[in-house]
Amino acid sequence: MSGRVLVTGGAGFIGSHVCAALCAARRQVVVLDDLSTGATANLTGLPVEFVRGSVADAAAVATAMRGVDRIVHLAALPSVARSLEEPLATHQACATGTATVLDAARRTGARVVYAGSSSAYGDQDAPAKHEALREAPLSPYAAAKLAGELYCRSFARVYGLSVVVTRFFNVFGPRQPADSPYSGVVAAFCRALLAGTAPRLDGDGQQSRDFTYVEDVVQGVLRCLDATTSGCETVNLAYGQATTVRDLYDRLCELARAVPGLEPPRPPLQAPPRKGDVRHSLADVSRAKALFGFAPTVGFAEGLRRTFDWYRSQSVRSQRA
Ligand code: NAD
Ligand code: UD1
Repeated sequence: MSGRVLVTGGAGFIGSHVCAALCAARRQVVVLDDLSTGATANLTGLPVEFVRGSVADAAAVATAMRGVDRIVHLAALPSVARSLEEPLATHQACATGTATVLDAARRTGARVVYAGSSSAYGDQDAPAKHEALREAPLSPYAAAKLAGELYCRSFARVYGLSVVVTRFFNVFGPRQPADSPYSGVVAAFCRALLAGTAPRLDGDGQQSRDFTYVEDVVQGVLRCLDATTSGCETVNLAYGQATTVRDLYDRLCELARAVPGLEPPRPPLQAPPRKGDVRHSLADVSRAKALFGFAPTVGFAEGLRRTFDWYRSQSVRSQRA
């Protein structure tokens, strides 16, 4: 495969796994990241070129685009909760950033894979969310990610760009930040259980998510990147199974109880339901399978075990330091 791949947000959680997979396939990789939520430590040992800057800055994007013919566009402020506090910063990173990246891509004709979000669906009556449903964003985050999708569709139509919008559901795995107020629930629960503290449970815990292991998402992204579709295609990338947040807590407690010497899990602290929160989220992944041969191989249970073990290895390391 010739040409360089630009990974925006490559120093983040999902981005660093995308970079690792591309480097393992001996692809040339350039990362554009402003390090607002990511860290260069996530890229340690990977032969990537790093450009520090914002996707909303056309000059920084132009610098990173040199020699690039494919783009994985992941840069965003990816938190529903944060978007309630900082809607304009979220818009700038997610919507303006996406328009800026697409504007650079249309000048060179680079193929773009855009990280969309299942939050575009909002709450729906359908048991599983499929791409033909009408979008119903609830939070400012969902609106900004959907604005990025609309730019993708428009740029494909008017400039002939080839774009794939990949709607990720709840991605989890090693390197997901666990120590921020906006941390994803898997990371936050692992951290609390390993520290012997009580995790926070928002609402009744019966809200459900399609938790998807990061390697399964990366495999899907690479398939979309190397495919030859034209125009703008939109596909869900997820495992395809719903788990409630309460059930997630119970499963992680089982893993924690199996660790010798670890304090018994504390019951969760009840918090009010989060504003802008989707109640149930489950993906229909048949379109990604049919169009791109997407097939998750690690899955939820094995992914959860690997993730818990990774956070455990990190907490052992920090205790030794
Ligand atoms: P992350 O916060 O770990 O990664 C985002 C990266 O983008 C970080 O490295 C951050 O520093 C960088 N960034 C933020 N604003 C930027 C800007 N203006 N310019 C350049 N870089 C910027 O989050 P993640 O979970 O890896 O999410 C990656 C992408 O996947 C995001 O687009 C997110 O919306 C999408 N997504 C994530 C999930 C999930 O469950 N994690 C689900 C659906 C969609
Ligand atoms: C997540 C992603 C978002 C993505 C979306 C797609 C993160 C940080 N956000 O949002 O980028 O677009 O999936 O589906 O990964 N909760 C608790 N306790 C906690 C943390 C969360 O009970 O400590 C609850 C929340 O209220 C929510 C659920 O767990 O009901 C999931 O929350 P979170 O992990 O933040 O993910 P989403 O908001 O679904």
